[in-house]
Amino acid sequence: MELEFDTRVCGFGVGELSPFCHPGPFADLQEIVLGAEVVRAALEEAIRRGMRLVVARVGAGDIAGARALERAGFELADISVVWRLELGRQLPAASLPPGLDLRPWQPEDMQACQELVAQSMCDPSAFPTRLCTDPLLAPMCRQIHYQWVANCFSGERAHWGVVLTAGRKVVGCCLVRKLDEYRGRVEINALARDYRGKGLYKAMLIPTLEWLAAQGITYVIIKTKLSQRAVVRTWSGLGAVQEDEEIAMHWWREK
Ligand SMILES: CC(C)(COP(=O)(O)OP(=O)(O)OC[C@H]1O[C@@H](n2cnc3c(N)ncnc32)[C@H](O)[C@@H]1OP(=O)(O)O)[C@@H](O)C(=O)NCCC(=O)NCCS
Repeated sequence: MELEFDTRVCGFGVGELSPFCHPGPFADLQEIVLGAEVVRAALEEAIRRGMRLVVARVGAGDIAGARALERAGFELADISVVWRLELGRQLPAASLPPGLDLRPWQPEDMQACQELVAQSMCDPSAFPTRLCTDPLLAPMCRQIHYQWVANCFSGERAHWGVVLTAGRKVVGCCLVRKLDEYRGRVEINALARDYRGKGLYKAMLIPTLEWLAAQGITYVIIKTKLSQRAVVRTWSGLGAVQEDEEIAMHWWREK
């Protein structure tokens, strides 16, 4: 399957191998060799369709599936977790220190948010996503995030969000989206480097959760990286539960 957004922004064919899994918890070598053959057949089709990069995702417990992918030429790109928060309960109050303000975002915040998000998300030491950990994809990381934020501000994927400001400078943003009548998602949340580690995340997140609750949304999800402890800590503290985890792997035609 082609990943349209990625193909458009990267300027070359990007596909996704999905779904792929090994049904049992353990596989012997023969099964893994067989799994790799299935993957190679899918890759031949991807090459025929002009794809340069193929992204595969397997459950983090599916080590056999990951090994079959590896044998077929895929390489580890990142590890994600999905957390889910039911919105029925009272959310805690969160306050801001003097000098900082929070307000709903406006169209003119787009550029500042794009720059903030690109800086935050294209830094593997802050957020090790496949878009920046893979040296072949890393040159496109900023452009992908610029476009992603632009999509959040307009069109049918338009979101609601807040920005955190220090004077006139945008130093944080949290963008959320209604997926349907009941489900919401936190799409983007980022703080400028100098503002991290000061307990500001909750103050930025809570108003967006309150907005979603006021829209009738009953639960919210967030996809983050396994190593993003500040997000995991905050969401678990609010009563969220981890509902999924996945390994993303990349295959490049030229490798
Ligand atoms: C994600 C992000 C917005 C969080 O903001 P932050 O300022 O780092 O987080 P906070 O200081 O508010 O900390 C939130 C909680 O996590 C805890 N925490 C922070 N860093 C931690 C770490 N390395 N290990 C364990 N706990 C940690 C804090 O103690 C706090 O817990 P508490 O409320 O129980 O005291 C910020 O780190 C960021 O912009 N990172 C880069 C982009 C990114 O990763 N975005 C998330 C995409 S899903």
